[in-house]
Amino acid sequence: MGGKRESIHGVWSGRLAFVLAATGSAVGLGNIWKFPYIAGENGGGAFVIVYLCCIGIIGVPIMMAEVMLGRRGRRSPINTMRHLAREAGASPHWRWLGWAGVAAGFLILSYYSVIAGWALAYVWRSAGAMFVGATSEGVASIFDQLVTDPERLIAWHTLFMVMTMTVVARGVRSGLEKAVRYLVPALFVLLIMLNGYALASGAFDQGLEFLFTPDFSKLSANGFLIALGHAFFTLSLGMGAIMVYGSYLPERTSIAKTSITIAFLDTLVALLAGMAIFPIVFANGMDPGAGAGLIFQTLPIAFGHMAGGVVFGTLFFVLLVFAAWTSAISLIEPAVAWLVENHGMTRVHASVVAGMITWTAGLLTVFSFNLWSDFHPLAFIEIFRTATLFDLLDYLTANIMLPLGGLLIAVFSVWVMQRDDSVQELDMGDSAGFRLWYFLVRYVTPVAVIIVFLNVTKLVNFSALLGLAE
Ligand code: PHE
Repeated sequence: MGGKRESIHGVWSGRLAFVLAATGSAVGLGNIWKFPYIAGENGGGAFVIVYLCCIGIIGVPIMMAEVMLGRRGRRSPINTMRHLAREAGASPHWRWLGWAGVAAGFLILSYYSVIAGWALAYVWRSAGAMFVGATSEGVASIFDQLVTDPERLIAWHTLFMVMTMTVVARGVRSGLEKAVRYLVPALFVLLIMLNGYALASGAFDQGLEFLFTPDFSKLSANGFLIALGHAFFTLSLGMGAIMVYGSYLPERTSIAKTSITIAFLDTLVALLAGMAIFPIVFANGMDPGAGAGLIFQTLPIAFGHMAGGVVFGTLFFVLLVFAAWTSAISLIEPAVAWLVENHGMTRVHASVVAGMITWTAGLLTVFSFNLWSDFHPLAFIEIFRTATLFDLLDYLTANIMLPLGGLLIAVFSVWVMQRDDSVQELDMGDSAGFRLWYFLVRYVTPVAVIIVFLNVTKLVNFSALLGLAE
């Protein structure tokens, strides 16, 4: 029985600590920055429905699988995969899945940190009352001034990377584990307040209609893939972040219940963010498909016009930074855990090495918004016609690497690993719940991911067969 291994990095103090850390990983820029802007770019309602289905049918089961593998392997994802493959009598090449996750984590963090840097910059802008009475044009020009200045972006990106590496160096258990306890509830309160403002803005209905009324003629094949990819991204799945957190999970914690709780909280934050943002978009005659700057060009208008807006705006961006921070540490943890295990590095040394590589890669994103904003390397492919390096990095990681990682995690959990071992590790007995999980991971996830991939590459055009947009 391999289930009795112990983690050399320590374990969480209990179930709550794990839920907090994993929720901290899941809730981040993905919910507040990315979800609204990609929902806006992909036509709203239909996209949101597909995304919600992906969370329920694919996200939750894959999260359970990742936690299960992590807890059974008790090592960094690379060594966990190697160990579990040996236990199952399978090829040692499964460790490459761990490597792919480490690579995805680096690439995601490289741009994640730049965007988190925007949030940091907005703490200052908000506290300095720059948004008071601001119009949509005023807010747009504040955003433009920030992103077109590479030096400023580098400075904020550097600050965010230093913050991240500082926490990672100290170990996941100290510090942030406690912070999440207050930050996530505070974020909820602020998002609900912003919904209050949106309700009063006059366009709340229009915002809700945009988000929740599905019109499948607006959802392209690419939109399906973006919704699927985002389900992985927002739940931190497919690259080992949740696996490595699972490796610090005490025995006998219910993996199913915790996974459902985390997915529920994560989805709630995303929907609240969307419901705050779109009414402001419509009330001010803005474009829901404005792209990556969407929240930075909408929410400041709300803060600029509501009572106590300076305080609430500042607090909001502080919370956004924290949400990004607790996600960023999980993006780099698989790499750091591996460096400690296999190279005998201290956590401090490992964090510095991993941080420097990520920081350097982040420059690609920094320049995508200014010096290289006209550089569209894959312009010859229709869906990438106007894609910058940042857009391509985001697409490669969120829409290709994570779903592929998730697919392989699914295959490993139910086709390679012994069924008895997963019964034991999930600790649900051979119940109906277990069998539902097994079915979803064994058939539904692989089939869904493959269909969405085939569809976007037009190898098999399901969208056309079903009469949907292409
Ligand atoms: N889930 C995080 C977010 O929504 C991003 C993330 C992706 C974190 C993958 C870890 C791993 O912001």
